[in-house]
Amino acid sequence: MTEIIPSVRGMRDVLFADASRLSHIESVFRLVLESYSFEEIRTPIVEYEQLFKRGLGESTDAVAKEMYRLLDRDEKWLALRPEGTASVVRAAIQQNLCYDDRPRLWYMGPMFRYERPQAGRYRQFQHVGAETLGLEDPLSDFELIQIVTDVFSELGISSGVQLHINSIGSSDARARFRAKLVDALQPVSHLLDDDSKTRLKMNPLRILDSKVPATQVVLRDAPKLMDSLSVESKKRFDKVLNLLENANIRYKLDHHLVRGLDYYTDTVFEWIGTGMGAQDALCAGGRYDGLTTLLGGKPTPGVGFAAGIERIALLHEQMHDVERISTDIYVVAMEESHQQYALEVAHLLRSGSDVRVRQHIGEGKIKTKLRWADRSGATWVLILGDDEQRDRTVTLKWLRFKRPQETIPLSDLLTTLYAKLEF
Ligand code: HAM
Repeated sequence: MTEIIPSVRGMRDVLFADASRLSHIESVFRLVLESYSFEEIRTPIVEYEQLFKRGLGESTDAVAKEMYRLLDRDEKWLALRPEGTASVVRAAIQQNLCYDDRPRLWYMGPMFRYERPQAGRYRQFQHVGAETLGLEDPLSDFELIQIVTDVFSELGISSGVQLHINSIGSSDARARFRAKLVDALQPVSHLLDDDSKTRLKMNPLRILDSKVPATQVVLRDAPKLMDSLSVESKKRFDKVLNLLENANIRYKLDHHLVRGLDYYTDTVFEWIGTGMGAQDALCAGGRYDGLTTLLGGKPTPGVGFAAGIERIALLHEQMHDVERISTDIYVVAMEESHQQYALEVAHLLRSGSDVRVRQHIGEGKIKTKLRWADRSGATWVLILGDDEQRDRTVTLKWLRFKRPQETIPLSDLLTTLYAKLEF
């Protein structure tokens, strides 16, 4: 037998109810984002790798360890996008959107990171993200947090999430703090976990969000990033927190939240799902006022978030059922001579309502056709034979409940079905 070719490790097929759940989450994001006047942007999945190296930082895990790189036929290094912010900012610069428009953009699509796959962590995963460009006002940070809060509430998962928030200040403040942190940790570096030892050289701030208990103990006595922030950054952060309090949005001040991408400045935030194990970050974001200049544009402040749709789905699954429904009504023609009438009935149903209609295709005994109707999961089957065709009626049979079969005039079919749906 010929060998089967499987999907790439960490990249999954999503089917049926699982796919419906992802679509549902995405559509709630779309609705809420559009209600805040965000407009959709679609950027390419592939970009020059330089965009991410410069935008996210060469030493970040997303770039140094996890980026999918590919050599184009003309010998240029490309990358499968690991995230969307750099692409959106690149597009805004290229399309001249930054300066007058103060664009509010949202996007959705697959991202790629070569991480070790496990539940909630994949090599291809789906983001819904949003970016506000051109506004420095803390209200724009707040607004993005409010959007995600509204989405979680609409999805019925608010009780399973916790918002963590921090300010990491300007890049100058961070440089000052980095030096202090390295000075403090160097003498006790033997107490740190291996990852943190490497980070002490490469990216010391990331040690702060280490989950290793021994490292967390060492960090208790380490200097606090908040103490290195400028008065301006502190004031700005207080305003964001005030807005959250006034809106009754609960948050946890998390001084160890630093985020893994280099472009952040000031506010950073993350929603953690409760009881979700290691992959519990559901959605994250923050401000990135230096990114446009880093990518060759004029200085333009920015703030945004990206939500991990698969992880939100894992939490949603713990709290809500989503049924697999592919068919509401199955239409069966008794004989080939009734097929034309069946086509007409199915089309009438589809164009006059939002029910899902599947017409039986293929020959066979009526018993076999009804078995297929049952397997489809439909609520009703419509049977069309000589009598129905002659009288322009349909015979409606319930598949899931014991109710009498009915004959309904075609002209009344939609109203009768709607009455049954309400019931
Ligand atoms: P991020 O934290 O790297 O931020 O990713 C956002 C979310 O994507 C995470 O909180 C997580 O839910 C999900 N995620 C990340 N990696 C994986 C994975 N391997 N498998 C499944 N889900 C994953 C960003 O990407 C920033 N661009 C967010 C942002 C937008 N900041 C400002 N604007």
